[in-house]
Amino acid sequence: MISVTEKAYGKLNLLLDVHGLRDDGYHEMSMIMQSVDLCDDVTVTVSHEGNWICRCNLPNVPSGMENLALRAADVFFQAYGNRPAGVEVVIHKRIPMQGGMAGGSADAAAVLRGLNRIYDEPFSMEELAELGAAVGSDVPYCVINGTVLARGRGEILKPLPKLPDAVFVLVRPDFSVSTPELFRRLDSAPIEKHPDVESAVASLKQGDLTGLCNCIGNVFQPVLSAQYPVIDEICARLDFLGAKASALTGTGSVVFGVFDDAEIARKACAELEKIHTVFLTKNV
Ligand code: C5P
Repeated sequence: MISVTEKAYGKLNLLLDVHGLRDDGYHEMSMIMQSVDLCDDVTVTVSHEGNWICRCNLPNVPSGMENLALRAADVFFQAYGNRPAGVEVVIHKRIPMQGGMAGGSADAAAVLRGLNRIYDEPFSMEELAELGAAVGSDVPYCVINGTVLARGRGEILKPLPKLPDAVFVLVRPDFSVSTPELFRRLDSAPIEKHPDVESAVASLKQGDLTGLCNCIGNVFQPVLSAQYPVIDEICARLDFLGAKASALTGTGSVVFGVFDDAEIARKACAELEKIHTVFLTKNV
């Protein structure tokens, strides 16, 4: 029996653009992804006996093969062979669930990295990321983490210069969103404003946080705000409380504000947590 523990970092979409629906049902996208230190701890144990099971400190997390973490183990052993009788994944969850922060994908990626360590790194990080694409569109990114430009359905990754140090205030409104449903709604109306990915990349290359903040945006935000105006209201509140930028991450419902001053960020947290669930985190 052998165990390893990996950190599964949450992700934010600093920018998220959708270019259109593809023949395979996925959408062509451009995203600037950023990992944050709000993370799950994922311990994976392999053994010669037992079964495949996932345990979590929170309820309503699937314990069987419908959990992306066990699907990742399945994909790993399909490529590696040597499939063990027992695989146990224990997740200590902190990333808000169904919030657009890729928590499930991060856990799956942590399992891929953990198994790769257990078996003395048979796969490069690029190969692991490729394996991750079979589990979910955000999994390849979650294998490598950091500041990354993701294209295609999310699996074509280009690491970018590290985001200058920033503090993020995350606000989690009290509803969750169906990702396929939100994509369908996006398809039914023209996108009015696309975020400027090229300028954002240029700002990152110059280490210019302010320039980057001017480019932050997510095409899902107007669509989701039409149904839940609280999304735009939280962004306005974050901006008022000193955020350099604010936006929805992924398909939501988490909203983030970017701060360059930890004290101002803490004060914003204290204000917002009077009515919302709030997290304070930073880029990693
Ligand atoms: O790849 P994943 O299983 O995470 O995607 C979940 C759903 O999100 C897909 O079934 C699809 O409806 C939508 N999606 C998409 N285009 C992408 C990524 C996800 O339409 N690039």
